[in-house]
Amino acid sequence: MRYPTLSPLLRRRRAGAAFLVLASLVQGGSALAGDHRRMPVDPLPEYVQECGACHVAYPPALLPAASWRRQMEGLDKHYRSDASLEPALVARIDRWLAQNAGEGRRAAEAPPADRITRSARFERKHRGIEPAVWRLPSVKSPAQCAACHAGAERGEFDDEDLRLPAGLNARQRRAWND
Ligand code: HEC
Ligand code: HEC
Repeated sequence: MRYPTLSPLLRRRRAGAAFLVLASLVQGGSALAGDHRRMPVDPLPEYVQECGACHVAYPPALLPAASWRRQMEGLDKHYRSDASLEPALVARIDRWLAQNAGEGRRAAEAPPADRITRSARFERKHRGIEPAVWRLPSVKSPAQCAACHAGAERGEFDDEDLRLPAGLNARQRRAWND
């Protein structure tokens, strides 16, 4: 009796498929291990509640500790609004932000006005978006991440999890499709 043998071509294909699986495992693993920019799994409830009232509670890793410290020191004049809290609460949130702030080379410099939306990374990731889009009533400003990122409340900003704010024309939509 003849045993079926794999043709060389099929064998090569199999090896190729195994390689792809391996490569995606490695990639997936490093994305999980290396992505410190998401919201920590167990965020401080006071932070989520108090700092998520007017915009989403931003993942602390998106700003360096110095920027968060300045935010917390100036809450009475917070981007022209009053976000003051009682001192004990400020201290608790401040400590948590310092522990979870961005680190390393990427967070070495505080962005202008301590804004995530003025950081080089934010500008790079959004360079395909026309300026008029930020001012649409359905968006209001770049700081309103949830207008376009369905997972923003959970601190997730993957490309695959975008939503289309109302009022985009066909050309403006292109930034969402590629
Ligand atoms: C009363 C409403 C309000 C509360 C409460 C509030 N903020 Fe804000 N925050 C604002 C406004 C308004 C802006 C400016 C948004 C814009 O430019 O569209 C802002 C902007 C920010 C930005 C910069 C966003 C950017 O452009 O990158 C950070 C960071 C921030 N807030 C952190 C906090 C933290 C931390 C707390 C909790 C201690 C907090 N906010 C609570 C109203 C608020
Ligand atoms: C007007 C809509 C809009 C707003 C508001 C917005 N984004 Fe985005 N964002 C996008 C789009 C569209 C992309 C995908 C761009 C691309 O891939 O070319 C994107 C991409 C990103 C990426 C890269 C994702 C990846 O997988 O590489 C990050 C991170 C991100 N946004 C974070 C934020 C944060 C944080 C905020 C709020 C401070 C925010 N965005 C506000 C539309 C928006």
